[in-house]
Parts: sequence; structure tokens; C-alpha cells
Amino acid sequence: MTDVTKAVQAYYTQQASQPAAGCDCAQACDCGPSLYDDTLIADLPVDVTGLSLGCGDPVTIAGLNPGETVLDLGSGGGIDCFLAARQVGESGHVIGVDMTPAMLERANANRDKLGLTHVEFREGMIEDLPVEAGSVDVIMSNCVINLAPDKAAVFAEAFRVLKPGGRIAISDIVTDGDFSEELRQRFDLWSSCVTGAIDMGVYVALMEAAGFTDVAITDKRDAAEAMPEVQGMPRVFSARITARKPV
Ligand SMILES: C[S@@+](CC[C@H](N)C(=O)[O-])C[C@H]1O[C@@H](n2cnc3c(N)ncnc32)[C@H](O)[C@@H]1O
Repeated sequence: MTDVTKAVQAYYTQQASQPAAGCDCAQACDCGPSLYDDTLIADLPVDVTGLSLGCGDPVTIAGLNPGETVLDLGSGGGIDCFLAARQVGESGHVIGVDMTPAMLERANANRDKLGLTHVEFREGMIEDLPVEAGSVDVIMSNCVINLAPDKAAVFAEAFRVLKPGGRIAISDIVTDGDFSEELRQRFDLWSSCVTGAIDMGVYVALMEAAGFTDVAITDKRDAAEAMPEVQGMPRVFSARITARKPV
């Protein structure tokens, strides 16, 4: 594990050990339950909604169908897995992967509370997924890929585990331009979803290099207001990113 990933894990271990009182995630994201349509999350317990640390609603972007197998990269407290589980139904299956044991503990407790037997959480890195090749219909991810130092490895792994024709629906932080090397060393800002983010053109190129087609970055929302003022920073956005693995 790289030093930055150790810092990220320590940050989310701490987040997972806070009582579920609300969102304190990403300084770059308008994070928390307000990301979702009220009707979607109305009956979720506060233990779930209070540990929502994303920057969008990838479940709605994904347009899930009953019976599909869904993988969530960096599942945290599990909110997107639980929303996806309702949409794929009991004939479907939802797998959340996260590297932080304290998050997995919270996610498993939430799953048991909700009685969702078709959701499972696996400990692992999104750069080296504990998932069989060609086994997943849909991959989703919410404010996580910006945290990975080796994004090429993440996209290569996502491509490997998708079935041919499978799709990916991501909410993530991207930039217009690059952070300086000096700012990239600010692991505190990296952990809170800021300085690990990369230029959107580079993001698309990395996905295409992994084999994805129809890569689109849409609905960019300026995250400047939610960000700490740091000199020399590029423009930062939360965005939705979609793509396909060719048949
Ligand atoms: C900003 S939180 C988002 C959690 C969740 N997606 C949500 O919307 O609430 C980031 C999560 O990704 C996990 N994570 C970060 N980098 C990871 C990596 N390289 N591999 C696996 N999990 C990672 C962290 O442990 C944390 O739970």
C-alpha cells in the first residue's frame, strides 16, 4: 500500500468510527444524503444515510434492471449497495468492495439490519479487485476513484471484471487542469477527495486505454464553494462518468 493510500485508509477508518450524525466527507463534494432524491432514501436508517460520503447518485445513473449483478467500487457504509439491491431485486446480486475494515464492519452491520441477503461486502483494493473476470453487469462508484493513486489499474480491473457489453456508472471528482506536485503531496486534501482528482481529459483517456468505449463525462458541477481555498488549484468538479465494455 502506498503512503497516500495508507493516509486515505486512516482517514476513512476515522470516518467510520464516528457516530452516524451526518456527512463530513469530501471537502470537494456536496456530500451526504442530499445527493439523493428524498424518496429513494426516506426509509433508510440514519446509520446508512449518516455515513454517505459520496459526490453524486451513481445508482440512478446506472439505470439498473432486475436480476443484474452490480459491483460498487469503494462501497463505504454501503448506501449505494442498498439502493442498488432494491432495484436488482433478489434475483440480482450486489457486491461492495472496500479496503477499510472499519467501513466494512459498518456496511455489514447495516446490511444485517436491512435484512438484504443479496448484498455482500468484500475487503480489497479497487486496483486489484477480489472479483472474478467477466462476472459483473454493472460497476458503480461514488467519489472513490479520485482517491486511488493508480487510476489506470482501477480502470483495467473494472474492465476485467465486467461482462462484455457491461456498463460503468461513476460519480467522481475531476479537474480542469492539474494539481502541482506540491499539492499532490497534501495527503490531508487527497483523503478528502481533492488533490487526488485528475484532469477530465486524462480521466477519459485512461478509461479508453483500458478498453472502455462511449466514455462520457457529464453534469459537471463546480465544487469550488465546497472546497478549501488553496492557491494554485485547478477548477474542481463533481461529475457523472459513464462508459461501456464492448461486446
Ligand atoms: C469518499 S468514501 C465513499 C464511500 C461510498 N462510496 C459512499 O458514497 O458513501 C471513499 C471510500 O473508498 C474507500 N477506498 C478509497 N480508496 C480505495 C481503494 N484504493 N481501494 C478500495 N477502497 C478504497 C475508502 O475506504 C472509503 O470507504
